[in-house]
Amino acid sequence: MDNLPETNNVSPTAEVRLITSAKGGVGKSTVCANLGAALAESGKRVLLIDCDIANRCLDLMLGLENEAIFGIRDVCHGAVSLSDAIYQAPTLPSLHLLAGSLLSDEDLAILPEKLPLYNNNMARKWL
Ligand SMILES: Nc1ncnc2c1ncn2[C@@H]1O[C@H](COP(=O)(O)OP(=O)(O)OP(=O)(O)O)[C@@H](O)[C@H]1O
Ligand SMILES: [Mg+2]
Repeated sequence: MDNLPETNNVSPTAEVRLITSAKGGVGKSTVCANLGAALAESGKRVLLIDCDIANRCLDLMLGLENEAIFGIRDVCHGAVSLSDAIYQAPTLPSLHLLAGSLLSDEDLAILPEKLPLYNNNMARKWL
């Protein structure tokens, strides 16, 4: 993530962190939700991007399950703008979510170039 191309418009202080593992059910989503909340409470502006393509759950963990209508697939396909698919956590104004989406094989084929993090640093610009 640290070798993303630079643009003139990204926030100079924005940092991107990826939380992943080769094994399921080890606590990735729990860590993301709690780390995001802790950073937001400390005054950081935080955008969580749920890249789970099968079982998104950060919307549930953040209490956004009824609000997060649009997700990463909608942004990748250009159906909505990144801003339209970013939701504010109910109790933490500086904690935000781009929800995960169920993705087809066709979606996965375009994902590397369409994923917002790789698309002109859209997420960094948003931060
Ligand atoms: N530190 C922990 N100690 C004990 N249980 C935990 C801990 N962290 C997470 N859990 C529990 O483990 C289960 C899996 O956690 P979580 O959903 O965060 O994992 P995950 O890696 O995101 O899973 P998946 O690969 O399915 O997305 C949940 O029931 C969660 O409450
Ligand atoms: Mg998970």
